[in-house]
Amino acid sequence: MTQPAYVIDQMISAKQIAARVEELAEEISRSFQSTEKLVVVGLLRGSFVFIADLVREIDLPVEVDFLEASSYGDSTRSSREVRILKDLSGQIEGRDVLVVEDIVDTGFTLSHVLQLLLARNPARLEVCALLDKPSRREVEIKATWTGFEIPDEFVVGYGIDYAQRNRNLPFIGKVRFT
Ligand code: IMP
Ligand code: MG
Repeated sequence: MTQPAYVIDQMISAKQIAARVEELAEEISRSFQSTEKLVVVGLLRGSFVFIADLVREIDLPVEVDFLEASSYGDSTRSSREVRILKDLSGQIEGRDVLVVEDIVDTGFTLSHVLQLLLARNPARLEVCALLDKPSRREVEIKATWTGFEIPDEFVVGYGIDYAQRNRNLPFIGKVRFT
């Protein structure tokens, strides 16, 4: 598939991300300190780098699981329709669960995933999102912890893609079409 030409302008450096991840992990560790074993659920695929860094800074016993909801396809517009492509491997009933998401944009994905998980009766369900674009919100929803609030820009890097590319960038950059 041909794609329009674009360049990537750095928005958040690897160093800034690492510092923020450390802070988030500290707050999360404090908040779940009485939890016997936290279930950290990464939403695939965009959160895979973030969750890897985050769990290594969390000072608690954790279990890691993944869930994949359908995303944008290869466009930069949200499709509104959310489908579960890969469900959790484990049970979450009665467990303390932390959902880890890359970006909360319109909020459709997260609200759908939270509804699904709530129906399984976890003891506690919280969300940590690396990025938040509040100006794009269409469903009223807010993550318990947010790494960075960003303006309405399409971003890539640190696990986040544009048409499956640029996930391996160590920083977060905005896509600028040329
Ligand atoms: P929402 O359902 O509109 O909140 O979309 C959330 C999902 O869309 C995120 O988990 C990302 O996978 C994807 N997404 C939203 N904004 C961006 C972006 O700027 N770059 C890449 N993916 C994005
Ligand atoms: Mg996603």
